[in-house]
Amino acid sequence: MRKNLFIALEGIDGSGKSTQARLLAEKLKQEGHKVYTTFEPTDSYIGTIIRDILKGNRKADHITIAGLFLADRLDHLLNETNGLVKMLNEGYTIITDRYYFSSYAYHGTHTDIDWVIDANKMCARILRPDINIFIDVAPEVCHQRILANREGVELYEALDNLKNVRAKYMEAFEKLKAEEKIVFVDGNRGQQEILNDVVNLVVALDN
Ligand code: ADP
Ligand code: TYD
Repeated sequence: MRKNLFIALEGIDGSGKSTQARLLAEKLKQEGHKVYTTFEPTDSYIGTIIRDILKGNRKADHITIAGLFLADRLDHLLNETNGLVKMLNEGYTIITDRYYFSSYAYHGTHTDIDWVIDANKMCARILRPDINIFIDVAPEVCHQRILANREGVELYEALDNLKNVRAKYMEAFEKLKAEEKIVFVDGNRGQQEILNDVVNLVVALDN
């Protein structure tokens, strides 16, 4: 398998991204790869502000929120400590739980999707994923998983919003299919079955 891959996992809340990020990282590490697993919103100072807003502890307009996610993403890419550009240069394969398609899907439901895509063009210029893997699970199933697992439901986790977000993901994938590698994985199965598909997709990037 190629080294230095940049793999983005996408999906609506509760679709199993974090689970697959962890399982994929374990698998690649077993095979001797240097793997860096990461996520957005990050746990940096900008990500912390975002999480406060998602929990309802701070208020901000949806356009402002989209701007904060962009700033968080640029810091995720460029910061001197563990920025993704630096980690790739050090030979890591990167697995990120969410990247810019999350912004298109989540902020495209509340603001102009084309504006969000334009605003994120610098990120695409800095690092475009080798593959965007969309783990596809019905919004109803995700909503049930969220209710079963969490004490509080966050800003974007209401069922209607999850449906809208899925629709916006599809819109963004259609708009960007010429320049992005986008693949779908059926997430309505057991974790290991999903993992097998994810691993096969990543290994196939060699060819
Ligand atoms: P996300 O990061 O997309 O929000 P998680 O990986 O945190 O999703 O998974 C959400 C919940 O669903 C967790 O409780 C997790 O254990 C569970 N889960 C993950 N994958 C599956 C699966 N394939 N089938 C059933 N439940 C799953
Ligand atoms: P995350 O912690 O990945 O939630 P989950 O594990 O439930 O999927 O993301 C938190 C929320 O942030 C989630 O509702 C999606 C949202 N989000 C955006 O609105 N815009 C973005 O650009 C990103 C990366 C995430």
